Amino acid sequence: MTLQQINTSSTIAEVNLSNYIINASGPRCTTEDELINLAQSDSAAIMTKSCTLLPRSGNPEPRYQTLEHGSVQSMGLPNLGYQAYLDMLPRLKQYNKPVIVSISGLSISDNVEMVSKFQQSEADLLEVNFSCPNVPGKPQLGYDFEQTEKALAAITKLGDKPLGIKLPAYFDMNHFETVANILKKFPIKFISSINSIGNTLVIDADTESTIIKPNSGLGGLCGSYIKPIGLANVRTFRSLLPKEICIFGVGGVYTGIDAFEYLLAGADAVQVATCYQEQGSECFTRLNNELSTILASKGYKDINEVKGKLQTI
Ligand code: DHB
Repeated sequence: MTLQQINTSSTIAEVNLSNYIINASGPRCTTEDELINLAQSDSAAIMTKSCTLLPRSGNPEPRYQTLEHGSVQSMGLPNLGYQAYLDMLPRLKQYNKPVIVSISGLSISDNVEMVSKFQQSEADLLEVNFSCPNVPGKPQLGYDFEQTEKALAAITKLGDKPLGIKLPAYFDMNHFETVANILKKFPIKFISSINSIGNTLVIDADTESTIIKPNSGLGGLCGSYIKPIGLANVRTFRSLLPKEICIFGVGGVYTGIDAFEYLLAGADAVQVATCYQEQGSECFTRLNNELSTILASKGYKDINEVKGKLQTI
């Protein structure tokens, strides 16, 4: 069997993805040039940087640092403002690839305004970010269950385009159940799980200092450090949510094996952030090859033979 015969295509809310791997909102997806580069890559979709009502230059630098097994960042939502992404959409759509717009309002009313606008656009999917940890004074929506419900009630009645939300990591079974029960009340079509682990501290012992400037050195932890947390969140939400709600697995995908693990945990597709930041868009080609190679070596022809099939001992 050749690698091309392995089926890794997937569907999120009836939007077809030609393979299992796309970029995550975050790195290298802010400018039109970056998004066109994604359009021309093997990423199965074009995901935009989370946008806000107005353009933002983000937090002071240094605000991103590479670590041995990942990264830590406090970017502060640098983006061109939602209007720029609205204007760009017809040009991005010329590449015949799904476009997913990430929306990260600083308030529920900002989210309502942006979701309304993108409901009338050519975007294929909308991912509303409930978990940005890096804007001082703005807590992560996904950790406030009352606000989460209020926000979902507001943003899910604005049109028929499939809507998903980007969740923070949860660590307690009660929280998983509470969030799943809230999600079930609304026509949410997918979740992306997880965002970076917010407000972590990396210290340089040599300089006896923080390594990023914003928020007194606290930032979102990304990469391999957080993969076991991402896998647990995907697996737990898969068991709690109806199968109609799709799941993007996010957190620590660097290799085909990482993607395969998210597949076992039940993810419908994975998103790649730090690895893409570090390696550029060639990583999508490599990841696809590696995932197909693993599937072939195990005798699988299709991701659906593996999805959610994690064994327990
Ligand atoms: C940023 C970081 C995030 O983890 C996120 O979800 C959105 C924005 C940022 O700092 O830009």
